[in-house]
Amino acid sequence: MSPDAAADVTAYDSGALDDIRADEPLLKVRDLVKEFPIRAGVFRRQIGQVQAVTGVSFDLYPMETLGIVGESGCGKSTLGRSLLRLLEPTSGTVTFGTEDVTAASKHRLRELRSDLQMVFQDPYASLNPRLPIRDIVGEPMQIHGVPKKEARERVGDLLQRVGLLPEHGNRYPHEFSGGQRQRIGIARSLALRPKVIVLDEPVSALDVSIQAQVLNLLDEIQTEYELSFIFIAHDLSVVRHTSDRVAVMYLGRIVETANRQDLYESPAHPYSQSLLSSVPIADPRRERSRKRILLQGDVPSPANPPSGCRFHTRCPIVQERCKQEQPKLQQIAVGHQVACHFALQPGETLLERTEQLGRGAQVASS
Ligand SMILES: Nc1ncnc2c1ncn2[C@@H]1O[C@H](COP(=O)(O)OP(=O)(O)O)[C@@H](O)[C@H]1O
Ligand code: SF4
Ligand SMILES: [Mg+2]
Repeated sequence: MSPDAAADVTAYDSGALDDIRADEPLLKVRDLVKEFPIRAGVFRRQIGQVQAVTGVSFDLYPMETLGIVGESGCGKSTLGRSLLRLLEPTSGTVTFGTEDVTAASKHRLRELRSDLQMVFQDPYASLNPRLPIRDIVGEPMQIHGVPKKEARERVGDLLQRVGLLPEHGNRYPHEFSGGQRQRIGIARSLALRPKVIVLDEPVSALDVSIQAQVLNLLDEIQTEYELSFIFIAHDLSVVRHTSDRVAVMYLGRIVETANRQDLYESPAHPYSQSLLSSVPIADPRRERSRKRILLQGDVPSPANPPSGCRFHTRCPIVQERCKQEQPKLQQIAVGHQVACHFALQPGETLLERTEQLGRGAQVASS
């Protein structure tokens, strides 16, 4: 496939971006909520709900990578799936270009999916084991009525583009390694030339030696296909190399968003600082003096989240107000928002603040 091959491929454009300017967000997410009912008893009566995603808002700009980071269970996958309506959001809106995705009919949603794609965490579970690779990669084209001959050629091109051979199209998922399977998932997501891809922990299940190769591939296709990425990860180390902006999630809410440099150099939310303290530093001298902040207690259940600030049960600098009043995301610098009543100042560390309050945080030298 030539380097310009991306430009030769017919785009199955949904038309939703026709009337927006290049500097406007592609995707606008507002107050997105996803709750799962908890049922019990013979009559399966609803006795509660899991608040997996609560009031999430953000914008995604053309060709930007927005990293979404937080511990396992904080709602990242639910958010990713709700954006594309692979799960129906409980409330809130997702606007793609000029179109409200959350209000789209089933038929229209199918058209919009040509522009909005997802790559899943587990490349094996997400590929149908009974289908040969050419059908897996070609399926989105079949759904969109791409003529058979064109689809066949394009599958060959796509497989080559992600580093496989056209002949691989005849084989089945179990014949491939984890890294190759993720390449197949990426090829499939590219089939209709999307504008946005949600990448749900795309390298977490892969060997460390393979992770860099897949990340490089994603980087290349982003430029070539002019893609915007939502890059979901459970720690800040992968996102550091891939994201332009980062949103940190805790128990279903975004607690901080900033461009990558601001988030890594002056994280203002206590949770962001504790997450960041577990990321190794490349400079060996600084690495030796790095202290890991160990948060107390387990992550509370999203079926029964804490009152006020959801982080208050684990926050080393919690005050009375935090238990009553939920902090809103507020701008503290250009493009930097934080949801904390007592946000850390630029250059201030969580340990310093903890000491100032006469408390001790549990730390470990890494
Ligand atoms: N289909 C479901 N039914 C009920 N609860 C769910 C379902 N999917 C996810 N959850 C719950 O929602 C919360 C967020 O899960 P998830 O989005 O998978 O988190 P993450 O991707 O950050 O690990 C978890 O508490 C999880 O148990
Ligand atoms: S609002 Fe209070 S509990 Fe929440 S992160 Fe800030 S200081 Fe900690
Ligand atoms: Mg997940």
